[in-house]
Amino acid sequence: MFSKTSFTVLERDVRSLMSERRFLHSLGTAQTCVSLCERYHENVEVDDCYRCGLLHDIAREWPDAKLQEYAREHQLSLESEEKLIPMLLHGPVAADMLAYKGYDSALCTAVRYHTLGSPYMGRLGLILFIADFIEPGRTHLSGGQRESLLEKRSLEEVCCGLLSLQDSYFESKGKRPAFSSLSLRKFIEEGGRL
Ligand SMILES: [Fe+2]
Ligand SMILES: [Fe+2]
Repeated sequence: MFSKTSFTVLERDVRSLMSERRFLHSLGTAQTCVSLCERYHENVEVDDCYRCGLLHDIAREWPDAKLQEYAREHQLSLESEEKLIPMLLHGPVAADMLAYKGYDSALCTAVRYHTLGSPYMGRLGLILFIADFIEPGRTHLSGGQRESLLEKRSLEEVCCGLLSLQDSYFESKGKRPAFSSLSLRKFIEEGGRL
């Protein structure tokens, strides 16, 4: 049974690592992870969902140079886009830090891939990837877009809907989606299940 009160200490710790705005996004993502898990009857512990949402952006406000230094010092294996856009390093950096703290590999893998998505992100990663994008505090989605994503029958379908919204956005900016996001979409379209 999910009980938010068991996360009071973790919430306080996470809050101390970031701005109030980022903390509210992290809380919204954590709550959305739990809602997705329940709505789609996922066979994932809701506590893990909440924890993962809370922790996913612990390095999001680090300066580029600090992220790059961490990635270099810890010899993190990176996607090509992550080498080009340092902000994207906050996923792999946070995942590495959480692994050192003893968090389990499913949570660390979910955090690792939450920015770009990946066929390797696992079930918890799929939940986090979607929750990060649709949590109520995010203003890039209209209420209608959020609702129509949540009318889909499975999380894979929600994910494909989300990736196609992202693709349209990238196209409007004259950019290409990341290789990792493209391979996630191809994987799901070919019937893959995370
Ligand atoms: Fe993030
Ligand atoms: Fe986030």
